[in-house]
Amino acid sequence: MVKTIGLIGAGHIGSQIARLAVANGYDVVLSNSRGPDTLSGLVKELGPHARAATPSEAARAGDIVVVTIPLKNYRSVPVEPTAGKIVIDTNNYYPQRDGHIPELDNESTTTAELLQAHLPTSKVVKAFNHIHAANLTTDGQPTGTKDRRALVIAGDDEQAKATVAELIDRFGFDTVDAGPLREGWRIQRDTPGYGPRRTADQLRADLAAAQRYAH
Ligand SMILES: NC(=O)c1ccc[n+]([C@@H]2O[C@H](COP(=O)([O-])OP(=O)(O)OC[C@H]3O[C@@H](n4cnc5c(N)ncnc54)[C@H](OP(=O)(O)O)[C@@H]3O)[C@@H](O)[C@H]2O)c1
Repeated sequence: MVKTIGLIGAGHIGSQIARLAVANGYDVVLSNSRGPDTLSGLVKELGPHARAATPSEAARAGDIVVVTIPLKNYRSVPVEPTAGKIVIDTNNYYPQRDGHIPELDNESTTTAELLQAHLPTSKVVKAFNHIHAANLTTDGQPTGTKDRRALVIAGDDEQAKATVAELIDRFGFDTVDAGPLREGWRIQRDTPGYGPRRTADQLRADLAAAQRYAH
């Protein structure tokens, strides 16, 4: 059972996922690059179900680990503490921020496959990469709400995807499964589904209409 969510990265997206997690009864362990002391304000806001730690400690504590950092730093994600765990990858590729990564420029792989290669025994699930951070706490609605907003997941482990879909449902969103990690490009930067509010049906159409950058 998922009780604790460990976060590597506590910026725009990490802090919002932490807010949703605590509001839905989970414990969170937050981490960033500068150290736990720099997260005291956020921990105070989140209350007794939150604490700050190092990335390794946050990964070790998490039943699920969320990696939500600038993509260029993905190789610093601790490998051993995330071994065998579900790892949610929110990251996107922005060359102006991340520098050029040739295998993403030539689209021979995807962002989440890079993280999966770095964390070989973890079960990486792409999620939360196409919603503006602020909307995570404004757009959620109860299960079954008509025209509820949907979020895409992708991953190679069906059970891990089911667990993440359950978490996303508790956070207030439907999910659309894009398939394995290699299909994650369908919701990358500049695709139709990247950013706007979409229902599950609309998002499925967006995924089908997505084109690779080469086009
Ligand atoms: N902002 C959005 O609306 C949005 C939406 C969807 C997806 N995303 C993607 O999600 C990822 C995070 O975005 P963001 O907007 O939340 O970024 P952000 O506000 O810049 O926050 C990044 C966080 O990652 C931490 N960090 C950086 N390098 C680290 C490392 N090596 N180890 C541990 N922590 C590290 C930073 O800590 P320090 O401050 O201590 O360096 C900070 O807490 C990005 O890949 C982004 O493209 C963003």
